[in-house]
Order: sequence, then C-alpha cells, then structure tokens
Amino acid sequence: MSSVRTTYIRLKSMLPEGVRDALSAINQRLFARRTLLRKYGSWFDVDWRKNFQNMSQQEWKRAYDEAWKHRNNDCVEETDAELILKALAEKGTVLEVGAGIGTLAIRLAQEGFTVTGVDVSAEALRRAAEAARREGVIVDWREGFAETLPFADKSFDYITCCHTLEHVKDLASVVAEFKRIALKRIVVLMPKQKFRLYAENYHTQFFESPDQLADAFGLSRYDCREIDCIDHKNEFQGKAFLYIGELGN
Ligand SMILES: C[S@@+](CC[C@H](N)C(=O)[O-])C[C@H]1O[C@@H](n2cnc3c(N)ncnc32)[C@H](O)[C@@H]1O
Repeated sequence: MSSVRTTYIRLKSMLPEGVRDALSAINQRLFARRTLLRKYGSWFDVDWRKNFQNMSQQEWKRAYDEAWKHRNNDCVEETDAELILKALAEKGTVLEVGAGIGTLAIRLAQEGFTVTGVDVSAEALRRAAEAARREGVIVDWREGFAETLPFADKSFDYITCCHTLEHVKDLASVVAEFKRIALKRIVVLMPKQKFRLYAENYHTQFFESPDQLADAFGLSRYDCREIDCIDHKNEFQGKAFLYIGELGN
C-alpha cells in the first residue's frame, strides 16, 4: 500500500468520530454501491450484507472461491503473526480457522506447532497447500465451516482465527464450536468496525469495542486489546482487536 494512502487513512482516523460518521453516511448513500460495482464487476456480491442470512453453504463456498480467484493477498501481517505467536506461548496443536491462503498456518508450523488449517474455500486451500509445499512445512488442510467444525471436543490446544470472525454467518455457533474444541486458548484477531451496508468485503459481524467481543465469548479469563493496523501494507487497514480467551481451570 502506498504511503500516500496510509497517510490519508491516518488523517481520516484523526477526524472527530461524528465527522467521520457523517462522511461515511454520505458515501454510503450516494456513491458506495456504484463504486464497488465499477471496481469489482459482476463476480463481487455488492449486496452481500443484505443477502448472507439466506445463503446456503454451497453458495457461501462458491462466493469465497470466486473471491479467492480474484485476490492475491491475505490480511495477516508479520506483526499480527508475532502477536498471535506470543499469545500461544508453549508449543502444541493449533486449529487455524479461516486459514485463507495459509500465511499464518504456515508461520505457526515453521515455529514448531502442529497445525490444521480450515477454510470454506477449496480455492484458498489449494493455494495454501502449494505455499506450504514451497516452504517445506506440513499443515493438515481441511475444507469446513467455522460454525460446524469436524473435530472432537478439546482436540486442539489452541484455536487461532485471524480476520475471519467478521466473515461468519452464525457467530453464536462459531463461538460454541471454538469453546468446544479448544483445550487451552482461543486467539482471535478481527477488525474494529461499525456496520456499513456497502464495503469491499463480505463482513457480517461488527464489533466496536473490546467488551462486545469479550461478551460474545463469555469466558471469565481473557485479555482483549485494541491494536493499530493502519500501516498494514495488505488488504486491511484500521484498528483491530486481539482477543485471547483462556479455557480450563
Ligand atoms: C479475510 S479472509 C482471512 C484469511 C486469513 N486468515 C488472513 O488473515 O489473511 C477470511 C477467510 O474466511 C473464510 N471464511 C468465510 N466464511 C467462513 C466460515 N463460515 N467458516 C470458515 N471460513 C470462512 C474465507 O474463505 C476466507 O479465507
């Protein structure tokens, strides 16, 4: 990402919240839908946030496969990977949910974790498997939905989920699955965001404060903090939350 654009985003983030909201409301009402149609063309479902509740699993997979055919970068940055690695502490088994093209899963495998990467998109996993082969690491790649994970209770020490919780259809089911499967910790990185009807992504879940995320998981021992991702060179620029939930006694 160019430094001009980073500067623009940073300057915008310094505006009072009310001004930012007003500008965004004008953009949403007058330009956003048309701009997205012009930029992405027919493969992108500009009305995703109106439609996603009625989508079947097949339609969901197809949409993400199509998205991954048109995208070349993931969202996770080296700095995110470092934060997540720190949150995992001891080595063990990791289920990386919403693994995408595999960057975090591969990084964790390189650090000595035993990693399974799950994603709805076969296209993403095909690219992830190629990248793992290139890097010479072994990751068990599985197609699946975060809402119905095909794994036994307490079968992984850690669950990591980076820039994906904001994409799921049914947040309550995903949270229940994470708590069922993780033995030690759940680590989630996701954007701090207000709902906007039109945007360049298929986001469905919106969190504006760390408390909302902590409440969604309902674990008594956790850490949730805001982190600044504005300088990210990849897709995501903004603020994010890093949530670390502790399981067990
Ligand atoms: C923005 S990408 C993030 C990928 C990667 N974790 C990263 O940080 O770059 C979101 C990923 O979630 C996947 N996804 C969407 N809905 C999902 C669901 N219900 N269950 C599992 N994965 C899902 C998509 O295919 C996509 O790979």
